[in-house]
Amino acid sequence: MKIAIGNDHAAVDLKNSVMEYLEEKGIEIDDFGVQSTQRANYPVYAEKVAKKVLSGEYDCGILICGTGVGISIAANKFKGIRAAAVSDPTTARLVKQHNNANILCFGARIVGEELAHDIVDAYIEAQFEGGRHQDRIDLITAIEEKGSCIDG
Ligand code: RB5
Repeated sequence: MKIAIGNDHAAVDLKNSVMEYLEEKGIEIDDFGVQSTQRANYPVYAEKVAKKVLSGEYDCGILICGTGVGISIAANKFKGIRAAAVSDPTTARLVKQHNNANILCFGARIVGEELAHDIVDAYIEAQFEGGRHQDRIDLITAIEEKGSCIDG
């Protein structure tokens, strides 16, 4: 598994911790975020990671800002990105199983280090279940492509 990670200034320490945690598990992870706590604009890092995921070079992405929300909103502006802001492992598992989220987002001001590790584990260990969930993702894709998923 190959992961692209990105962050703004609010999440430098947590990003480093998550990278170290995943590297210890033998997961390849490349950093497209900031390493400085000087103010940085999260949409820039959302775009970098979204484009890496859409390129197919990475299996998925992780984005971390203060809340996880701004950076997920920005990433979701890219067609084909399903970025999910979560703050617990159960949601992290379900966003993969049901939503096939291709970017996991969380907030450094919201979750601590151990919880972040558990969130990442739940996400990477889960598998997309397909079936009725794929039907719903197809409707999301219709919204992206035609502006609507409602017939008629
Ligand atoms: C930065 O101050 C903060 O707004 C950002 O990290 C994030 O929380 C936005 O959603």
